Amino acid sequence: MSKKILITGGAGFIAHHVVDKILSTTDWEVVTLDRLDFSGNLNRLKEVVSAYPEKEQKRVRVIHHDLKAEINPEIAATIGKIDLISHLAAGSHVDRSITYPLEFVMDNVVGTAHILDYARKLDSLERFAYFSTDEVFGPAPKGINYKENDRYNSTNPYSASKAGAEELVVAYENTYGLPSFITHTMNVFGERQNPEKYIPMVIKKVRDGERVTVHANAKKTVAGSRHYIHAEDVANALLFLYNYNISSMQPDDTGAKCQKFNIVGKDEIDNLELAQFIAQSQKKDLRYEMVDFHSQRPGHDLRYALDGEKMKNMGWTPQSAFKRLEKVVDWTLKNNRWLSI
Ligand SMILES: NC(=O)c1ccc[n+]([C@@H]2O[C@H](COP(=O)([O-])OP(=O)(O)OC[C@H]3O[C@@H](n4cnc5c(N)ncnc54)[C@H](O)[C@@H]3O)[C@@H](O)[C@H]2O)c1
Repeated sequence: MSKKILITGGAGFIAHHVVDKILSTTDWEVVTLDRLDFSGNLNRLKEVVSAYPEKEQKRVRVIHHDLKAEINPEIAATIGKIDLISHLAAGSHVDRSITYPLEFVMDNVVGTAHILDYARKLDSLERFAYFSTDEVFGPAPKGINYKENDRYNSTNPYSASKAGAEELVVAYENTYGLPSFITHTMNVFGERQNPEKYIPMVIKKVRDGERVTVHANAKKTVAGSRHYIHAEDVANALLFLYNYNISSMQPDDTGAKCQKFNIVGKDEIDNLELAQFIAQSQKKDLRYEMVDFHSQRPGHDLRYALDGEKMKNMGWTPQSAFKRLEKVVDWTLKNNRWLSI
């Protein structure tokens, strides 16, 4: 019998790419759960799912639920038997977390507690995957790439709420034996991303001849940088991990059992280089201004960086971000409704 996966935040940006990958590479049934706020858009799911034959489309179901409330027996019955869970639902906009920190505690910490408590009562759950972020480690000085079990140092309520939720996952594995893993992903881009995010925002500004703001250091000489990764690579990594024999992996040297995985893009790109690449792809000149963003907006960091050796040694590698980026720029300009949602 085919597996059934529950994906929370299914109408969100990364999750809809995960649904697409599952439809194209497995025979799994998918139940998505989302509260459909300003960042959850059912049109994302509709666009990818409707590209499949009708029989495949029937493999996907959508359930409307806000994880600030528990999954009561009625919703659990509607979801039905589940083999795998990918928990992606979260408030994901750092700026919003700085303005409304408690909203992020409710969505990301309490919301994770609710899905974990539902998961621990399931009879035959194979694996619970929690999507966390590189931002839990805080800023990475040049030359430092954080490993999975390094110390955390959240610099904004978003990352703190993601780190808090991680610890709940660790506790549910240690206390109840919930088979889990945690991923740290960074700067994911791709088709149908919210236009508030850097890449779609730059595509739009370059298209409209507007000036791009590039976050930089205090002297405005060094642009911030990130490892970027396409959402399809993230979906590939998730399926790779579901198929990997995680139960056979040993705790780390300190005894920490719950496995964590850094899903890292191939290329570290600075914000200016990225904007220039996007302008070149549109055959336009880049108008830009370097700003000392961190001093003006505490909570934003100049550089984030992860070490990808663990996943590499397990046999997983991402594609080049630059190669994907050119296609995303082209796709976004042709499907420009996604620049004005
Ligand atoms: N985008 C990135 O670069 C990135 C990097 C690292 C980690 N992540 C993590 O990956 C996950 C997905 O990120 P994304 O960029 O696709 O975010 P997104 O904002 O596009 O999607 C999040 C989805 O979760 C839903 N949601 C939020 N709160 C909810 C609640 N209380 N109940 C039910 N649904 C709720 C939203 O409606 C939305 O559809 C998040 O957990 C995020 O923290 C994202």
